[in-house]
Amino acid sequence: KKRLTGSGPLTGKKAIVTSGPTHEPIDPVRYIANRSSGKQGHAIAASLAKLGCDVTLVSGPTQEPAPNGVDLIKIESARDMLQACENALPADIAVCAAAVADWRVDIEADQKLKKDGSGQMPDLKLAENPDILATLSQHKDKRPSLVVGFAAETEKVIEHATAKRERKNCDWIVANDVSPSTGTFGGNENTVHLIAKNQCEDWPRLCKSEVADRLAQKIADHMKEDQE
Ligand code: CTP
Ligand code: CA
Repeated sequence: KKRLTGSGPLTGKKAIVTSGPTHEPIDPVRYIANRSSGKQGHAIAASLAKLGCDVTLVSGPTQEPAPNGVDLIKIESARDMLQACENALPADIAVCAAAVADWRVDIEADQKLKKDGSGQMPDLKLAENPDILATLSQHKDKRPSLVVGFAAETEKVIEHATAKRERKNCDWIVANDVSPSTGTFGGNENTVHLIAKNQCEDWPRLCKSEVADRLAQKIADHMKEDQE
């Protein structure tokens, strides 16, 4: 990894960023996944690095190139993502932009599941995945001082995101409308609301890289205030 800048407003700070989907294995050839492109998370990692931050990007499978100046850790499942994040602690900042699969198949088959010819469907039992954002936000001894989550919603965006922030105990939530008509999933633009305790900022429709730059700048301003 090459350092991007000699010094910037986040020099000396460390961040963990999660990005992309997770893949949850069903058997050796199949998995459960989602449409996350990783564009927003990767852009945030790049923007933080440009401000001098030491960034560990923990990402599920994506087509996105590794951003410059960032430590990239590639994982597949939610459980691996959690482990990689725990290993990257301590950190000052955590930004959870990954679209973590909420469920995995309880027991991964060790051989490819086969049709048995009787028309019987396999009985896939699901288990809930660990919540990485909530784990970092509620970490006993190594909670990053600023924890930022995303809330992908298709309706009542601000209401749901505000409740999510409180439930997970993170500091900020970047709320975005992912209903199919917005083109957010896989697209290059995002219309977000930044929700903090008793505060909500509506941002205009921006490129994901602009959302990332703006969020990184906000984070830098916040870390500076924290120090003063
Ligand atoms: N998240 C996470 N680990 C999970 C699920 C979600 O770290 N197992 C994080 C996401 O990265 C995001 C935030 O939690 O920052 C909210 O994700 P979202 O899917 O919107 O919320 P959920 O709590 O999973 O609730 P639901 O999908 O039911 O709306
Ligand atoms: Ca979810």
